[in-house]
Amino acid sequence: MGSPPDTSKSSKLERYNSYLRRVSSAKLLAISSQLLFRATLLAALVLILLFTLNHPPLSSFQPSSHSHRSLLASPFSTPSGASWERQVRQSSTPRRTDGISVLVTGAAGFVGSHCSLALRKRGDGVLGLDNFNSYYDPSLKRARQSLLSKHGVFIVEGDINDSALLKKLFDVSAFTHVLHLAAQAGVRYAMRNPQSYISSNIAGFVNLLEVAAKVADPQPAIVWASSSSVYGLNTDNPFSELHRTDRPASLYAATKKAGEEIAHTYNHIYGLSITGLRFFTVYGPWGRPDMAYFFFTKDILSRKPITIFKTQDGSGEVARDFTYIDDVVKGCLGALDTAEKSTGSGGKKRAPAQLRIYNLGNTSPVPVGKLVGILESLLGVKAKKNVVKMPSNGDVPYTHANVSLAEHDFGYRPTTDLAAGLRKFVKWYVGYYGIESKAKASVGGRNKGVDAVQSA
Ligand SMILES: NC(=O)c1ccc[n+]([C@@H]2O[C@H](COP(=O)([O-])OP(=O)(O)OC[C@H]3O[C@@H](n4cnc5c(N)ncnc54)[C@H](O)[C@@H]3O)[C@@H](O)[C@H]2O)c1
Repeated sequence: MGSPPDTSKSSKLERYNSYLRRVSSAKLLAISSQLLFRATLLAALVLILLFTLNHPPLSSFQPSSHSHRSLLASPFSTPSGASWERQVRQSSTPRRTDGISVLVTGAAGFVGSHCSLALRKRGDGVLGLDNFNSYYDPSLKRARQSLLSKHGVFIVEGDINDSALLKKLFDVSAFTHVLHLAAQAGVRYAMRNPQSYISSNIAGFVNLLEVAAKVADPQPAIVWASSSSVYGLNTDNPFSELHRTDRPASLYAATKKAGEEIAHTYNHIYGLSITGLRFFTVYGPWGRPDMAYFFFTKDILSRKPITIFKTQDGSGEVARDFTYIDDVVKGCLGALDTAEKSTGSGGKKRAPAQLRIYNLGNTSPVPVGKLVGILESLLGVKAKKNVVKMPSNGDVPYTHANVSLAEHDFGYRPTTDLAAGLRKFVKWYVGYYGIESKAKASVGGRNKGVDAVQSA
């Protein structure tokens, strides 16, 4: 047998080891609590700094120019440079005495491009602003842009949410008017991308009004596009500006209705002169590919079936007060010409200002089935129709405008019926897409429709 283990030595060693462990864990604890303290202090300092930057003392509050977006990293890059400013100035300068100078937002869009051209043709200054988003084929927006450029209208590529850019535009040019048409359009798309409606139709509109009310000097008069969709579930006919508009059937309609209320606020607080225009299903050359008359034409020509909606109770056809683009353009120009000056400056109202809202429609609703019939005869192709009940995803069964207010105030009188307007649309469509020869070939030369359209 060997000698017993030296327990006193090993227990000393153990005690010493545990002493070392205690010392090192105490040190570790001290170091980590120091680190934690420093990190907390740093985070607090950063938070205080951010808070100070975003919330300057109330006494030194400068409206609008210090927006949240301009202090934090901006997602936008503002164009600049002498030649850019020259282009902006040139485009926005009127060429006739007493001409107005208009900032047209959404100028690469359907209504915006037509209005910009019409203003330019009569000698007004026009500057466009558009973000060229891809809600529908941006190449169509680019084609409209080159058409406008040929007529001396420059479109700045930018977003209405970019307050630095808007401020710069008002610094460079003293716009007398803003024709605000930039928006996320479309009723059904709101179910897929609701945020785009909030961003453009609410946040973007507020951003524009902020700059117009607080930064622009002088304040411009604003004419902007609301929509017939604000009538929502209204059943009184024809739709009058006096009818209820508090029952929107889609998020799109709700954002337009919100825009009308927001307009009231900016008129009330800042003295901005604001006119809202409720457009009723606008159609025509250079139109929007997401609208039924446009994609029906495409699908009929390519022999694809089209879906036509009947009302949800199955009792009737869906009908729309289709309004030809030239009539809407006349309405927009009429509203601009009768818009009174804004009365505020530097974010302060000096006197009550004009606040108006008008229907711009055609006053004669047409069932969608009849629209298809007109297209069939213009294109010389029979449509493959699929008639289904309208899903409840935002569309309303019927629209019909009473336009007597616009007629009274600025002589708005629509003159183009659906057959005449669609003829002009189809003529543009086949020319723009180079469809004529294909359509002729596919119907073996019997395409009287397209031939007739070409000679129209
Ligand atoms: N066409 C109609 O039938 C109709 C009916 C009722 C109301 N409206 C309204 O009329 C206006 C013009 O409609 P449209 O048919 O010409 O539509 P459109 O989509 O052809 O034009 C809108 C333009 O605005 C631009 N835009 C969108 N969001 C923007 C943003 N955040 N910043 C900068 N540009 C932006 C788009 O790129 C587009 O070119 C819209 O306000 C629309 O809601 C149109």
